[in-house]
Amino acid sequence: MKLPGGLSVTEFLQEYWQKKPKVIRQAFPGFQSPVSAEELAGLACEEAVESRIVIEDDGGKPWQLHNGPFPPDRFSHLPESHWTLLVQGLDHWVPDVADLLNHFRFIPNWRLDDIMASYAPVGGSVGPHFDQYDVFLLQAEGQRTWHFGGRCDETSPRVEGTPLRILKDWAPEETVTLNPGDMLYLPPGIGHHGIADNDCITLSIGFRAPTVDDLLTGFTDFLSSQHDASVPLSNLQLDEQSNPGAISPDIIDQLDHKIRETMADKRLLALWFGQYATAPKNLDIVVPAEETVSEDDVEQMIAEGAQIRWNEGSRFAYHELEDTTALFVDGEQYLLRGDATPLAQLLCAGTEPDMTELAALASDDAIKGLLCRLVNQGSLYFE
Ligand code: SIN
Ligand code: CO
Repeated sequence: MKLPGGLSVTEFLQEYWQKKPKVIRQAFPGFQSPVSAEELAGLACEEAVESRIVIEDDGGKPWQLHNGPFPPDRFSHLPESHWTLLVQGLDHWVPDVADLLNHFRFIPNWRLDDIMASYAPVGGSVGPHFDQYDVFLLQAEGQRTWHFGGRCDETSPRVEGTPLRILKDWAPEETVTLNPGDMLYLPPGIGHHGIADNDCITLSIGFRAPTVDDLLTGFTDFLSSQHDASVPLSNLQLDEQSNPGAISPDIIDQLDHKIRETMADKRLLALWFGQYATAPKNLDIVVPAEETVSEDDVEQMIAEGAQIRWNEGSRFAYHELEDTTALFVDGEQYLLRGDATPLAQLLCAGTEPDMTELAALASDDAIKGLLCRLVNQGSLYFE
């Protein structure tokens, strides 16, 4: 398997992923931006779209942040230069942007965050900073010059008087100017600053990883919902003790044992993780289909050769358990057994599952029922 631009996936994962930046010239030769500045401005006025404007010098205040949605006339009250518009979750709103993700399937679906777009006039940037996540910065229109390099962390000096985490006294190690189709990969923690040379659009294909906090609080909440967690521990063994105030080491051992025993359930860990990792970024992403379909409709559309595809913004993943395959779609789990198990692999392989294989599987009523449910909940649709 190869990355856009031809680098082998093995080499990229061994040498660069999570380790060091990589400039990929002409990763997408002849690239045409799937979205225009006007379309981005239009999206930033929509209630359901997450958008921000960053202004470098906002009436004397450094690096000010304004959150959308914006009134349409907001864009006529911006400085001539040195500002940036950011639109989050663009893969959900623009199908051609969602299709770009098909070039990044060498990273598992559960790692994907979203595609963000930035538009900036000359001089525009979001300031020197570092991110906690891996990102491919794809130049979509115009030119942007990236200064990058150097490991940063929470102790790195920051500019005061801004709500953004802007690095102060940061010295980049490298500078490159990206043209449309060029791409820069940055691992987490590397300082970077991308300044627009002219009107430019950059797409950030972002990948997330769970934090320790997500893991601990998410999994324990899930465990509590699976067991009857409100019942007091009843079998804590007491030994005679001379001081009633003492909490004996033996009691701590017993609590420790209980925690370890409860947490050691790998099956539940896998089920929680699949649901967590495929959960939609917000409630507007997966909305029930306007016209519901019946199982007969699904059968007919498959017979007519219609292509099924993921809703833009939907997340699919699966995990093979001993006797079952757990399919995760948009934060829900479906346990597949027997003849149904190949469905998980087929649905998760890419945005447009192979319809010949799907047609063979969909002769099974349970599978047809599941497809029908996924269409009606808005995770899949027929093109
Ligand atoms: C941008 O596209 O201007 C900012 C993206 C980033 O630095 O993460
Ligand atoms: Co960044």
